[in-house]
Amino acid sequence: MNTAIGRNIVLVGFMGTGKSSVGRRIASQLGLRFVDTDRLVVEKTGISIDEIFRHHGEERFREEEADALDSLDAIDAHVMATGGGIVTRASNVERLRSLGFVVCLTASEEVILERVSRNDRRPLLKEANPRETIRALLAARAPLYASAAHFTVDTTIRSHDEVASVIIAESRRFFQ
Ligand code: S3P
Repeated sequence: MNTAIGRNIVLVGFMGTGKSSVGRRIASQLGLRFVDTDRLVVEKTGISIDEIFRHHGEERFREEEADALDSLDAIDAHVMATGGGIVTRASNVERLRSLGFVVCLTASEEVILERVSRNDRRPLLKEANPRETIRALLAARAPLYASAAHFTVDTTIRSHDEVASVIIAESRRFFQ
């Protein structure tokens, strides 16, 4: 086992790839605690992510997100879901990798669009052409997710349970 890193499972990936749902399943199956950086930001600021973007702008959200990650410095035995843009700061990526096994969830552009259209919670996609935004953000972020992750799972045609099983099996290899 790599002793330089913690024994946490960290999920990164684009909006709509299932990080929170899959993360909760992994945590419950392995008896680990679950933490979600988006939720930490909302708890700390007392307002929704949408409101942070609207009233204070994306940069303020990125500050809050980085602070939330910093606050988790000493955690162990957790499953962590992160916001889709957390990898846009190199310092966040370094921190995520020091926390444990970093897994990137991916999905096709089509499936992402279909999943994120089920609700209007994502401020970055509240605009005339969300498909174009998804395409542009995916292109810009793909190398960042790839460099952050120890392992990648495509969720396009897998259920949350299937994705969780793949990650649990791979995490056993990683931590052995
Ligand atoms: C964002 C993804 C969101 C949330 C915020 C910004 C992004 O999280 O952090 O709306 O930049 O991709 P999810 O990936 O959980 O939707």
